[in-house]
Amino acid sequence: MQKIILTGDRPTGKLHIGHYVGSLKSRLKLQEAGNYDEFFIMIADAQALTDNADNPMKIRSNILNVAMDYLAVGIDPKKVHIFIQSEVSELTELTFYYSNLVTVARLQRNPTVKQEIKLRDFNESIPVGFFNYPISQAADITAFKANIIPVGDDQLPMIEQTREIVRSFNRIYGDTLVEPKELLPDNKACLRLPGIDGNAKMSKSLGNCIYLTDSKEELKQKVFRMYTDPLHIKVEDKGHIEGNTVFTYLDAFSSEADFAKFYPEFKNLEELKKAYQHGGIGDMKLKKFLFEILNQILEPIRQRRKYYENHLEEVYEILKEGTKYAEQIAAKTLEEVKNNMKLNYFKNKQLLEEYQEKFN
Ligand code: TRP
Repeated sequence: MQKIILTGDRPTGKLHIGHYVGSLKSRLKLQEAGNYDEFFIMIADAQALTDNADNPMKIRSNILNVAMDYLAVGIDPKKVHIFIQSEVSELTELTFYYSNLVTVARLQRNPTVKQEIKLRDFNESIPVGFFNYPISQAADITAFKANIIPVGDDQLPMIEQTREIVRSFNRIYGDTLVEPKELLPDNKACLRLPGIDGNAKMSKSLGNCIYLTDSKEELKQKVFRMYTDPLHIKVEDKGHIEGNTVFTYLDAFSSEADFAKFYPEFKNLEELKKAYQHGGIGDMKLKKFLFEILNQILEPIRQRRKYYENHLEEVYEILKEGTKYAEQIAAKTLEEVKNNMKLNYFKNKQLLEEYQEKFN
C-alpha cells in the first residue's frame, strides 16, 4: 500500500505558533523521516472562500504568505508538493459527484461544521458552499488517494465524513477510492494551543496570536503579557498550573535540553511545576524561560522567511510547479471516478458501439 500524505490550511492569515506546534512541526518530522511515497500540502483557498465570499482579497493576499511560512519552517519543495486548491479544478468536479452520496442530515450532524456555524453567527443564512465544505474536503483527500492526513482533532469529523464517502462510492461504483486515516500530534498540549490571553482559541480578531513572523521584540512583549495565575501575586505564593497559559505553552514547547540551556536549576518541567506550586517561583522567571525557548525556535524561521521575502519569484515558481503536479494526479483520479460512474461517453467510441450493438 502506498503512503500518501496530504494536509492543508485555509489562507485566511499568517500562520502562528499554534499552527507550528499543532501541525507544521509534525509535517517537518514526516518530511525528514521520508517514509512516504507522496506528500502534498494544499493551500485551501476555495475552502477559505466558503465563508469569505465577500472578501476575495483576504484570501489572495495570504497565498504567498502561507507558502512562505511553510518554506520558512523548513518544508522542502523537493520533498513536498505545495499547491493551490482552486487551481486544481478536478477537486470541484469530484465534490459535485460526491455530494450525491451525502445527506443533508449527515452534514447537519458534523460537529465541526455545527460549531463553526455558531461561531460565525450564520443563524439561518448558512451559505450552501460552507455547509458542503466537508464534501469538498473529501475531494481534496481522495483526489490524491491520500491515506495519511496530519491534522488537529477539530478535523476528525472531516476525515470520518471522507471515509464514509469513500465507502459509499466504492460500494456503488466499484473499488476506486482510498480510505484516509488522520494523524494527530502526539503531545496533547499541542492539539490546541490557547492564545496569550488564555482564550482557548488563537485568532487574529482576538489579537492573541504569536506569529511565526513576529520579531524578537514583538515576541518578548507578547510572552511578558501572557496570562498566568491570577492568584499568584507574590513570588512566595503557591502557584497554579491548571489554566496557566505559560505552563500550557511550556507543556507544548519545552524539552530537557531547554532546561539544561536556559534554566539549569531544574532538570525538567515536572520539577519546575512542583516548585511553582510550592511557591517561590516568580512569573517573570517563567516568562523569560518561555521567551528563550520560543525565540530559539522562531529565529531560524525568521531568517528563512527573510530569504523568501527577498526571492518571491522562487516562491511563485514552487507553487506553480507543485500545482501542476497535483493537477496531473487529480486528473487521473477524476478519470477513474468518471469511468466507474459510467461517465465516459467519448472515450474510445464505447458509447457509440454500445448503441450500435443494440440497433444493428
Ligand atoms: N479544513 C482544514 C482547516 O481548516 C483545511 C483543509 C482543507 C484540509 N482541505 C483539507 C486539511 C484536506 C486536511 C486535508 O485547517
